[in-house]
Amino acid sequence: MTVRAVARGVGHYLPEKVVPNAEFEKTLDTSDEWIRTRTGIERRHFAAPGETTSQMAEKAARRALEDAGLKPGDIDGIVLATSTPDLTFPSAATMVQAALGMQRGFAFDVQAVCAGFIYALATANAHILCGQAERLLVIGAETFSRILDWEDRSTCVLFGDGAGALVLEAAEGEGTPDDRGILSVDLNSDGRFRDMLYVDGGVSTGTTGKLRMQGNPLFRQAVEKLATTAHTALERAGLRPEDVDWIVPHQANLRIIKATAQRMNVPMDHVIVTVQDHGNTSAASIPLALSVGVRNGQIKRGDLLVTEAIGGGLAWGSVVLRW
Ligand code: UT7
Repeated sequence: MTVRAVARGVGHYLPEKVVPNAEFEKTLDTSDEWIRTRTGIERRHFAAPGETTSQMAEKAARRALEDAGLKPGDIDGIVLATSTPDLTFPSAATMVQAALGMQRGFAFDVQAVCAGFIYALATANAHILCGQAERLLVIGAETFSRILDWEDRSTCVLFGDGAGALVLEAAEGEGTPDDRGILSVDLNSDGRFRDMLYVDGGVSTGTTGKLRMQGNPLFRQAVEKLATTAHTALERAGLRPEDVDWIVPHQANLRIIKATAQRMNVPMDHVIVTVQDHGNTSAASIPLALSVGVRNGQIKRGDLLVTEAIGGGLAWGSVVLRW
């Protein structure tokens, strides 16, 4: 018998305020048409004044727990992916732990920007496989609206806020690719690319800073690296692209999503796409897409999923799991 980390529940939260592309036409030299055709984005949600990453994460976590039929006390720990925590420290994860009323277990943040949820899943999986925990909440939550430069049309139209959460639980499998749960992981980073996507503030500057991105070079890196990491993870699981029921990609740009699917030879009707409604929510984008895909009846128990993401660092990776 092999231990597997199996998804038992999923949930998400999106802030109430929805901002359509046309809103940016009022203040910037941009258009709904440019944003739609270059990115696939039509609208995004922005957090209300004072609404924080940990508050959104808590709401998503409660929905995932409800979906799993579990209570906060049933959980052994929280792994939360974010690059926009409420404060420099303590972690947003410990804030969620307190808000859920959890009095035991561990909680910590993982920071791998847009690849954060992949890293968080991989970390939670490792804790479950080594027997450190039986049930974990894995959350991706972001308020990127707080680090956008509203005068930079090449970045501020791309991002949104939100949170998604997954309950992972230890279960026994046969050790074959037919098992439910996480089947393989591929993680990568290359710090030489730091200037491609970064925030120009932090502890060293005494400011929060704003997001800076070289969009076009990053686009080219993304298309190449995402297909490669997905192939590597599939191979590690003993599976092939034709076995994939759903690609659940990071939602940065519809053109990147399409190009990656094409390189993997997976048709677009096997790809979960939410970028039109959420924009790029960084570490929240994959759990949001998972939750929406399950709610819509697209993702079903037993389906083979490949998740993949790339972001600042650069950091990128892929997780293969059977739902
Ligand atoms: O989540 C982390 C990973 N992030 C990504 O993977 C993002 C990757 N990059 C992208 O998605 C795309 O590169 C962008 C959507 C950011 C940009 O699309 P692009 O096709 O690479 O455009 P570009 O940067 O080459 O710019 C083309 C033109 C430029 O004008 P000129 O120099 O050709 O006159 C830009 O100034 O589009 C212009 N432009 C805009 N025009 C209207 C850039 N932003 C805008 C805008 N509205 N909002």
